[in-house]
Amino acid sequence: MDRFAQRRNSFISFIGSGVAVVPSAAETVRNSDVHHPFRQDSDFFFLTGFPEPDSVALFDPTHESERYVLFVRPRDPDRESWDGKRAGVAGCIEDFGADAAYPIAELDKVLRDRLRGKRTLYYRLGSPTDSRVLGALEASRGHQVRTGVPAPCRIENTTRALAELRIIKTPDEIVAMREACRISAAGHAEAMRVAAPGKTERRVQAAMEYVFRAAGAEREGYPSIVASGPNAVILHYTENDRTMEAGDLLLIDAAAEYGHMSSDITRTFPVDGNFSRAQREIYDVVLAAHQAVIEVCEPGIPFTDLHDLAVRKLTEGMVDLDLIPGPVDDAVGYGWYREFYFHGTGHWLGLDVHDAGEYRVDGAGRLLEPGMVFTVEPGIYVAPDKTTLSLPELPFDLEADRDLAYLEGAAGAKEQLDERRAAAEQVAHEVPERFRGIGVRIEDDILITETGHENLSNAVPVDPDEIEALCADRSVVVPDS
Ligand code: GLY
Ligand code: MN
Ligand code: MN
Repeated sequence: MDRFAQRRNSFISFIGSGVAVVPSAAETVRNSDVHHPFRQDSDFFFLTGFPEPDSVALFDPTHESERYVLFVRPRDPDRESWDGKRAGVAGCIEDFGADAAYPIAELDKVLRDRLRGKRTLYYRLGSPTDSRVLGALEASRGHQVRTGVPAPCRIENTTRALAELRIIKTPDEIVAMREACRISAAGHAEAMRVAAPGKTERRVQAAMEYVFRAAGAEREGYPSIVASGPNAVILHYTENDRTMEAGDLLLIDAAAEYGHMSSDITRTFPVDGNFSRAQREIYDVVLAAHQAVIEVCEPGIPFTDLHDLAVRKLTEGMVDLDLIPGPVDDAVGYGWYREFYFHGTGHWLGLDVHDAGEYRVDGAGRLLEPGMVFTVEPGIYVAPDKTTLSLPELPFDLEADRDLAYLEGAAGAKEQLDERRAAAEQVAHEVPERFRGIGVRIEDDILITETGHENLSNAVPVDPDEIEALCADRSVVVPDS
């Protein structure tokens, strides 16, 4: 049985006597008749392995013969000569393990039939197929009124069930993730060899992505962040068009996707090959936090402990460097470290770079289990214009703030929090000039094993001396023209 059939069996057990509809991704228009590159929906791919858009999978575990049905674009030689080959209805059965398949135009009709007598429809609302699926549901409910044949009275989200299946990686998924990491590491090493003052960020991006593709990546796992100098403090910087200068750091957060599995790696290194003293001081703090967190990764550790440990380590370092005032307990408790570290320390990784899965269970951090893969990515980002700080003596509570943002919306919550902070006692602090404009993040991909962990992405160095040695190596794959 292939991995998709195994996953379908687990999913079908979960659905029980309900029926589930899982749509593919839709193509999105870039302009006129040109589309953005297509990437299959991860839940749909997880269950089907089917690569085409405009498709829907239907799971009907109590059906006598059609438990797994695909709805797809029919064969069409004219269209296929423009857009590429289609599996068609017959191909779904022959090559993708479907019990039955229908042209996508027949979804509404077949779905109306399959909803009869069911109590629960499993479906992720907000999908491109909403109007068709809800239309069939309403039709079946109307039919119930007239005939008494039961129709589903509730819609359950498929996301949670699929997330629980996706969060523990299977051996072949781990093989794909190792390969994604191997390829990504080769690209990062190439970036270190290529980068130099006077080149653009995009030149480095091109060299790195060349290596990704040449080494077998299908695509990037997410848009590459190639952020030099002050751009490194912008978390999701993707313009990648600045000309780099001597004395800059270059923060690269980029990684390959292989076998539909993503990696997610960040390295930060000096464009001219040598860390300045101030850069090195910040780098060492981030590296110490990175290594401290990775060291404790093993089964049974609550995921949220990793962030707490990173915060403690980074805050100790920030206080030592006088980026923020101490004592460390105040800087943590009042959330002062968030001036320079304002994102989480990691996330699940898999089919998606920010992969499916819950981080907390019953209010507590989820315990790590063998087969889970996640990132560890502490950082420090000192914006160039952040010259003085006004730090409120107000206890910081991330969970309470998240709740407030949920209830009030992001803007409303921000307004309330800003007011509370402004009303609190303030501690003024000057940011040392030598650190301004420095951004550092170090990110690796960690697999939890039976006995501890495996760092999947450690083929690209984090040690500053090893990084400087790699930067000094100019044996690049694609030389300047
Ligand atoms: N590359 C996105 C992230 O690190 O979360
Ligand atoms: Mn990440
Ligand atoms: Mn990343």
